[in-house]
Amino acid sequence: MKAKKLMALALCGAMIASMSVPVFAEGEKVGVSMPTKDLQRWNQDGENMEKELKEAGYEVELQYASNDPSTQLNQIKTMIGNGASVLVIAAIEGDSLGEALDMAKEYEIPVIAYDRLLMNSDAVSYYATFDNYMVGTVQGTYIVDALDLENAEGPFNLEITAGDPGDNNAGYFYQGAMDVLQPYIDAGKLVIPSGQVEFAEVATPQWKTDTAQSRAENILSSFYADGTNVDVWLCSNDSTALGVETALAANYSGEYPIITGQDCDIENTKNMIAGKQSMSVFKDTRTLASQVVKMVGQIINGEEVDVNDTETYDNGVLVVPSYLCEPVFADANNYKELLIDSGYYTEDQLK
Ligand code: BGC
Repeated sequence: MKAKKLMALALCGAMIASMSVPVFAEGEKVGVSMPTKDLQRWNQDGENMEKELKEAGYEVELQYASNDPSTQLNQIKTMIGNGASVLVIAAIEGDSLGEALDMAKEYEIPVIAYDRLLMNSDAVSYYATFDNYMVGTVQGTYIVDALDLENAEGPFNLEITAGDPGDNNAGYFYQGAMDVLQPYIDAGKLVIPSGQVEFAEVATPQWKTDTAQSRAENILSSFYADGTNVDVWLCSNDSTALGVETALAANYSGEYPIITGQDCDIENTKNMIAGKQSMSVFKDTRTLASQVVKMVGQIINGEEVDVNDTETYDNGVLVVPSYLCEPVFADANNYKELLIDSGYYTEDQLK
């Protein structure tokens, strides 16, 4: 199928080459595979990409996989069968799409890993994401500044809620934050009353709000029921922060902690404005979508593809050439400028 298609395109390319227009530009199909509609960000990512790809003249097949890896696998195979020229994939589990990726390789379809790295496959052409390690360092640095850990004696009580072990990003977020916080833990300025600190102990399968909530409830009833304050709760993203915030509302009466997050989801931004979450790392999905659309165009036109990191993201088989966008933090002081003035949200959405 692919060979035939390539031959047809080559003929067509030869015909229009003299007009010096891009050979494969218009009408190519791009398959976009997103993990779930349950989380706000993936809806935005999908919508932004679909809109921009269509504006650039491509056909788009956009699918959401209900957080079910086998659904995602089948959807990608269908996209290949439907003649996708490039695949953009935000994996549910970085490790479970091997069969579809092998098929993409067989048909010579370039694959861009979107936001989350695709692991253990040599079929991955590029990776586009926000700098995942930096997301963690931004969260850690926010905590250091908010508690003035350089000068304050402490000790402050810290708890940690990290992300999905199946998502390669989760380890980077955790490590980025811990690399900033570890010196203060070593110095005794930060202590962890639950003792739960290793990634495996603090991880949240599938980033589920309910799972984060029940773990937080257990921690609060076991270690804070006697009136001990929890001063800071490091949460890797907004869906887990929401679970911790719900647990705190019903099970805790001490001083309200500093809570971190990521994504600036609407519910969490509302909580920031209401003082129930301190910050959220802002990853403007429009920026990432535009970058990926640019990379798709470069691939299709046979141009050099824009990357800015060729060292960090080893997927177990190869170091995937990557483009890393820079995340920033949002809080109650700067959210208007970042989120409203930039047109990301309207004021009404945050009421
Ligand atoms: C993304 C985060 C998101 C999380 C849960 C991660 O891979 O980078 O932005 O909060 O998945 O969907």
